[in-house]
Amino acid sequence: MIAFVADYRGKGEVFLLDTTTGEVRPLFAEVTESKNPFWIDAELGVAKRSETGWEMAIVEVAEEKIGPFEEVENFLHKPRLTSPAMVDLNEVRFEISLKEGFVPVKAYLQGGGRTIPVMCNGNDAIVTGSAAAGLYDLRIVARSASGYHSWVEPKSVYLGDSSRTVRIVQLTDIHLGLVKKPENREGFIKLLEGAKSEEPTMIVITGDVSDAAQYYPDDYAFLRSALIEHAECPVFVIPGNHDSQRAGKVVGKEVWTELFGELYFGFEWGGWRYIFLDTGDSDYGLVSGMVSEEQMDWLRREVGKDRKKTVLFAHHNPFDTRWSFFEKESNRQELVEVLEGGNLMLALFGHRHSDAIDYHDEILAITTRKSLEGSALSYRLVILDREGIVKISQELPKASKSM
Ligand SMILES: [Fe+2]
Repeated sequence: MIAFVADYRGKGEVFLLDTTTGEVRPLFAEVTESKNPFWIDAELGVAKRSETGWEMAIVEVAEEKIGPFEEVENFLHKPRLTSPAMVDLNEVRFEISLKEGFVPVKAYLQGGGRTIPVMCNGNDAIVTGSAAAGLYDLRIVARSASGYHSWVEPKSVYLGDSSRTVRIVQLTDIHLGLVKKPENREGFIKLLEGAKSEEPTMIVITGDVSDAAQYYPDDYAFLRSALIEHAECPVFVIPGNHDSQRAGKVVGKEVWTELFGELYFGFEWGGWRYIFLDTGDSDYGLVSGMVSEEQMDWLRREVGKDRKKTVLFAHHNPFDTRWSFFEKESNRQELVEVLEGGNLMLALFGHRHSDAIDYHDEILAITTRKSLEGSALSYRLVILDREGIVKISQELPKASKSM
């Protein structure tokens, strides 16, 4: 066991490194600062600052006894398979969010034969083991009133170098509907293979994954298993109007949240702000776009943070000047005004099932055709670097020629 001082949480504190497992944990929760750890035989002493001043103290290093484990449904809200954490190798820090009543205790990244320890401080997660670039499963241990719980979320944490050029493959309007179109299984796998041939940094699916509420169980189970099996890069998925339907007891938004986590989210990567919206944000399963006031407030805060270059992904395009894809014109206008308040440079949409380019002041708004239409497969390739947009093109996967 090695004791050391680090400022993981913005001030000097003593942490313990278990040299066998690579795990790191903070020593004190109750003191404001601690310094100069020293060992006397098996006992650890530190200079610690409490509310009354500096003092020397021998401290307890006994570890929390974890277990036995209680079985529960998934308690992890974020990150998830379809909204993974993008973690820069120089920062090695990301956010873990659990459902109410659960507290993170420890976590690990698993993949490529490696297990990398992650230290949890509330919602803050810090990779403490030697980190290598890659897409990892997140194993998390949490505590609740009923005991300890464990969950593995596959391919939900990406470690990488954010200074590199970013290659994004956008897929949209898959409309799986596997019960009536089982051939879409093969089509979607070919799409993923085509996307992989572009060596993407990330893949984004901009909504309408399923076709209707009665198909959600089959379509979403397939999406999940296909991504677990085939994804080699982070895959972000946002809902479209076909994913937001209500039918009997099925409420699209609830199904989505349980299976995929957040409906809208954002992060920073490579000098850009990424925003993923849920434009099917009504309680009624509307065909046209809708963004709730709650989401609008979140978006206002996101784009108002700074003047970072921003790229937006959503299903319905509020900038389309030919058709209006929004339920209420006032809602569309408010969305446009909020987006104008940030430094939005590029916005990528689906829903329309055809290609279109709209210019709105400095904003380039691009709509992409259906990615899976029988045997016709296509996707959008977008390349960004720190300076701006490098390339935007429509691509046909090589695999589609053999279908
Ligand atoms: Fe749609």
